[in-house]
Amino acid sequence: VISGVIAGTGGYLPARSVSNDELAAEKHLDTTDAWIVERTGIRRRHFAADGETASSMGIAACQAALAQAGASVADVDAVIVATATPDSAFPSTAARIQGGLGVTRGFAFDLSAACTGFIYALSVADAMIRTGQARGVLVVGTEVYSRILDWSDRGTCVLFGDGAGAVFVVAEEGSTRGLLSTHLHSDGRHGDILQVDGGAGSTGGTGVVRMAGREVFKHAVTKLAAAVDEALAANGLGHDDVAWLVPHQANIRIIEAMGRKLHLGLDRVVVTVDRHANTSAASIPLALAEATRDGRIKPGDLVLMEAIGGGLTWGAALARF
Ligand code: ACO
Repeated sequence: VISGVIAGTGGYLPARSVSNDELAAEKHLDTTDAWIVERTGIRRRHFAADGETASSMGIAACQAALAQAGASVADVDAVIVATATPDSAFPSTAARIQGGLGVTRGFAFDLSAACTGFIYALSVADAMIRTGQARGVLVVGTEVYSRILDWSDRGTCVLFGDGAGAVFVVAEEGSTRGLLSTHLHSDGRHGDILQVDGGAGSTGGTGVVRMAGREVFKHAVTKLAAAVDEALAANGLGHDDVAWLVPHQANIRIIEAMGRKLHLGLDRVVVTVDRHANTSAASIPLALAEATRDGRIKPGDLVLMEAIGGGLTWGAALARF
């Protein structure tokens, strides 16, 4: 039996970190640090510099993931990138990252599932490894949401940040570790409550993020709860077996609700939303990179990941590190 093992993780954050107060002053927003912290848990976010893109940040995250895995570009068969903010419609951000890393074989492609993109990409990588199509897959989430925000909408522009995260997933035979299962969902009927109102194929230009926050919040709590139940039940596991919950980082209240549901204190939940804000598809691999480097996630730990985003899309993944 072949399984996909997360052999390395890596993250990249742009140098510039902006506090809530700095953001409010710079963008002339009618908001306060207290409002943002109380509703979301967000205190700061990183913003990409001019010239930094989803691919340039993704390359840095991939290099860190390969280094942690003790692997080289020669071990990379595929690059799968989840992003809502690609450098261009094509070449894909994945092909740009492949080229930038110096990988000269295999294949690369982007996929689109908004904030759930990393879970989707992990699922595709796992399936490809299990079916023998690849043995080393870079799975990347990389986003520059600062370029698709409406700075006159205080209800959305305070919520997001830029960054990239990557994991290197490798094939192992008869391993006790690796991805146990992934669980994907979408319901396109709810597309309008969280969307970018434009894009390469639209007549309206690039578009910006539009969100009905309360509606998204309600869907998030119920759908994520169902997804984590599904993931645990599929493997005959209970919440006691989970060493770390690594949730998508959109809002501390959603994260806390999931922790309560799983009977996990915040000491067993990896939280970055306070410093990164919502980096969409990048948030989970950024959190994994942080928690594997600082020693929280250890070999053998069972890690539960979950995310929800535009589509609506949502899902969960269970991995033994
Ligand atoms: N500062 C001050 N006031 C604000 C701000 C702000 N930044 N933003 C909105 N308000 C005001 C609104 O204008 C409104 O004022 P009004 O009553 O005078 O009209 C009031 O606050 C309440 O607005 P709501 O949108 O109802 O505020 P709510 O308590 O729901 O909080 C929030 C908004 C934080 C966005 C919340 O709905 C939420 O977290 N939703 C989930 C969103 C989310 O997590 N999305 C991401 C998941 S998917 C993904 O990652 C893409």
